[in-house]
Amino acid sequence: MNQDKKIMDKIISLSKQRGFIFQSSEIYGGLKSAYDYGPLGVELKRNIMNEWWRSMVHERENVTGLDASIIMHPKVWEASGHLAGFSDPLVDCLISKERFRADKAPIPNIGDELNITCADKGQAKDYQKAIQKRFNIELNRNGKILTGLKVIEKNKIGFFNNESQNPTEVFNFPGYVSPTFGSPFLSNEKQFNLMFRSQIGAVDALGDIANFVNENKHLDKDEMKQGIEKIVKDSAVYLRPETAQAMFVQFLNCQQTMSMKVPFGIAQMGKSFRNEITTEHYIFRSCEFEQMEMEFFVEPGSQKKWLDYWRDARLHWWQSFANYPENFNYREHDKNELAHYADACYDIEYKYPWGFDELEGVASRTDYDLKKHAEHSGAKLSYFDQQKEDPDTGKMGWRYTPYVIEPAAGATRGLLVYLIDAYHEENVKDAKGNDTKRVVMKLHPKLAPFKVAILPLIKKDGLPEIARSLVKDFMKSGINARYDEQHAIGKRYRRHDEVGTPYCITIDGETKDDNCVTIRDRDTMLQERISIADTIEIVKNKLNQ
Ligand code: GAP
Repeated sequence: MNQDKKIMDKIISLSKQRGFIFQSSEIYGGLKSAYDYGPLGVELKRNIMNEWWRSMVHERENVTGLDASIIMHPKVWEASGHLAGFSDPLVDCLISKERFRADKAPIPNIGDELNITCADKGQAKDYQKAIQKRFNIELNRNGKILTGLKVIEKNKIGFFNNESQNPTEVFNFPGYVSPTFGSPFLSNEKQFNLMFRSQIGAVDALGDIANFVNENKHLDKDEMKQGIEKIVKDSAVYLRPETAQAMFVQFLNCQQTMSMKVPFGIAQMGKSFRNEITTEHYIFRSCEFEQMEMEFFVEPGSQKKWLDYWRDARLHWWQSFANYPENFNYREHDKNELAHYADACYDIEYKYPWGFDELEGVASRTDYDLKKHAEHSGAKLSYFDQQKEDPDTGKMGWRYTPYVIEPAAGATRGLLVYLIDAYHEENVKDAKGNDTKRVVMKLHPKLAPFKVAILPLIKKDGLPEIARSLVKDFMKSGINARYDEQHAIGKRYRRHDEVGTPYCITIDGETKDDNCVTIRDRDTMLQERISIADTIEIVKNKLNQ
């Protein structure tokens, strides 16, 4: 685990040093779990998303694209169930005030001793006192650890004073403990909606709330809360928590304008927002992230075949840009894990430093979404197939609500995956023959931020001019090239190794005489002398290999 943690730390550090990812609003102390994609991160993210778009939309006749607004009609979220059900169960530790997700909390076994592990001795003393005051028991203190509690039943803990065989006090607990301290002293669960709420238009919800409170002083706390909630809800809009819903809402417009025939898909990529309580593992789970989703509409009954098709297609797509395809797999959801709208689902997983975890979900969503939006909006969200017999009437022409297969991927999560996959440390010899460590990001050339770096060996004798002219030619050919003259050539190679530039081209003193340059391969470090006139073609071919 130590080793794994080190890899994440190294990636976080390199990402900052080299301009992939910065903490959001860093000069103001940073905003928790919000990140900015820097000069290289934005290129990498766009390359991933463009490759996805190419493979999902441009290379398929039966998929069309959409770029919907982030703020949609609030009824969309009512119909989709996000307003009522898109929530996490939250719990507070009554002692440390730590807030966490109940469904992610550690579950001790019956018979386990519950040791409350504090940050230091001082905190242990404070918590010991707080527990004594609130629960009338004095836990034993051993350095920063408080002992004396044991799980005696699934939802009961006992306090065992001074090694006694029987508990002197018994408490109820929810069956889990707080993740940081291991505390069983917890509040009831509260549902917390994950959607970010805002207001649209010139509404003054605060004024209305003030009036309501003023006029209803007799109400109790819950009634007051309900009244305020209603005022806020009446003018509320939400930042979308997934890109998916717009594709259901625009099903008819996309199908009709493009004359799409089932089976067909609508694809969209872009930002989604979730007020995540447990943000974790750097950009793995953040509050603002990017998704790449596709809703694929199929004939009822054919969903299993298409689910398998998209599961395999998506797994292979992720693997095709990786150094270690064996680190990707898929896992079928158990029946009790399925969302209420799904009849089957696979997670495409990656082996992160903390273990296999989700990268993309491929869900069979039945006809749930189109039916719900049809019900709430009154629109006829169905499809008519003239060539098919209606199974109920036996007559030609079948109107039905299509079933949906949804491959839903995280673009920012995918970026993290490819950073982990690319990170390599190698022992190499430096110019003097000494052993040294080389950090190289073996990003797939299609994903690498710069495809080629053009390096004049020295900053004079006309070499920079030749280099700049070559950069221009690369740019004209649509290949992102970078001019770089800072520091010695060895340092420049290392810098480009660290950002994953697949090729470096050096212009040296002989270039003017022999019209040749040296091309260096990032992964093998082999160098080759090639004609300057052939450079772009050679790089193009290498990138397309
Ligand atoms: N429309 C279905 C849907 O949104 P999801 O499993 O909640 O399904 C799909 O999200 C993908 O979006 C996930 O597999 C993950 O890659 C990414 N994702 C979800 N929540 C995220 C978060 N808080 N931070 C980063 N990526 C996230």
